[in-house]
Amino acid sequence: MRQVAARQADVLVVGGGAAGLMCAITAGQRGQRVVVIEHANKVGKKILMSGGGRCNFTNTGTTPQNYLSANPHFCKSALARYTPWHFIEMVDRHGIAWHEKELGQLFCDVSSKLIVKMLLDECAAAGVQVETGCSIEQVQHDDSGEYRLHTTHGMFHAPALVIASGGLSIPSMGASGFGYELARQFGHAVLPTRAGLVPLTLSGKHQERLADLSGVALPVTASCAGQDFTNSLLITHRGLSGPSILQISSYWQPGDNLQLDLLPGRDALQSLQQLQLERPAAELKTVLGELLPKRLAQRLCEVWLPHLQPSRPMRQFNLPQLREVAATLEHWPLVASGTEGYRTAEVTLGGVDTDGVSSTTMQSRHVPGLYFIGEVLDVTGWLGGYNFQWAWASGHAAGSVA
Ligand code: FDA
Repeated sequence: MRQVAARQADVLVVGGGAAGLMCAITAGQRGQRVVVIEHANKVGKKILMSGGGRCNFTNTGTTPQNYLSANPHFCKSALARYTPWHFIEMVDRHGIAWHEKELGQLFCDVSSKLIVKMLLDECAAAGVQVETGCSIEQVQHDDSGEYRLHTTHGMFHAPALVIASGGLSIPSMGASGFGYELARQFGHAVLPTRAGLVPLTLSGKHQERLADLSGVALPVTASCAGQDFTNSLLITHRGLSGPSILQISSYWQPGDNLQLDLLPGRDALQSLQQLQLERPAAELKTVLGELLPKRLAQRLCEVWLPHLQPSRPMRQFNLPQLREVAATLEHWPLVASGTEGYRTAEVTLGGVDTDGVSSTTMQSRHVPGLYFIGEVLDVTGWLGGYNFQWAWASGHAAGSVA
């Protein structure tokens, strides 16, 4: 253990991820002495691995509707005060080239390493001290209002403590339950957590029927709990993935009905009737193989439609039979059994209850000088750059006052 004298700061930030670094930069720019305490060997590991290595760093279409929270109003103030354009201004100032993929999603042209470098350069310019490989052993809040952090790098103390330790997803990247434990230590409620933006698993006959179709992808509309997403679905050897499934996974809970429309934006019955008129001699299974990936169409015929004898020509199908085929395409009856869990989840739903936190400053309503920002809070974004935008915005809100 490295022995050093107790170090005084104005703001201690626990967690050198997206939210913690943004908070540190903002507070440092105000002249505050800021120390970031990160237990991993480097900061920003999730930024590095995000967006397939190119970091989907924001979404220009960000609105409060893109977030899940027990209090859907909580995110409004911070998001309104630090918009995607504020972050884009920083990215542009550092000469980082970016492009828009789909639906306002902005990615680096070259590498997410540039975003981490930018944040560290901003930290250095603002005089922020970053302690990596530093584990916290104890947190105390004394009568004078100071927070004392006993760490493997010695003792740090400051009147403001910002918890930016993230959620539980991807434990191998440094994720820990630290923020939740600390919140409870200081009297905050923590709402139940679960994995979000995560592949869904199938089991039993559902899994057996699709396991050998692993790699098949197609556009679908996935719906659950009153929410729907149209995007691609990918069959995996354990179940279902792809953007539409990751998105809906944040709304799905065990036992919920997952609806999958395999012909998004089209009326399946109308499409089948049109094909019946145009190609009466074509077999149903051939026609389905043109509407869907061939291997999936074949499996639908074998497993879900065999009683309709799909090798018959289209002209032989009456209206009720076409209706049944259309219903199978629009409501593919698959039952998800679970999720792949925190091991592969991009985010953690639930977390520190926002009822105990000010939505303008992110400061605790119970304990002065204590702040919660980023994913540790019960605010979770959709897939597409919204989670980083929340990290930047909430980090900026706390850093402006801490
Ligand atoms: P974050 O998890 O980033 O940082 C928390 C930090 O605290 C970590 O560095 C951790 O090591 C540290 N820490 C934890 N416990 C500690 C302790 N006890 N002491 C000290 N330090 C501690 N979002 C998005 O908008 N666009 C994208 O492209 C992606 N892509 C993506 C890919 C993958 C694979 C994942 C897993 C996630 C994404 N995300 C994403 C989500 C995004 O990464 C996530 O929402 C933010 O990183 C959350 O930022 P935070 O700073 O709150 O936590």
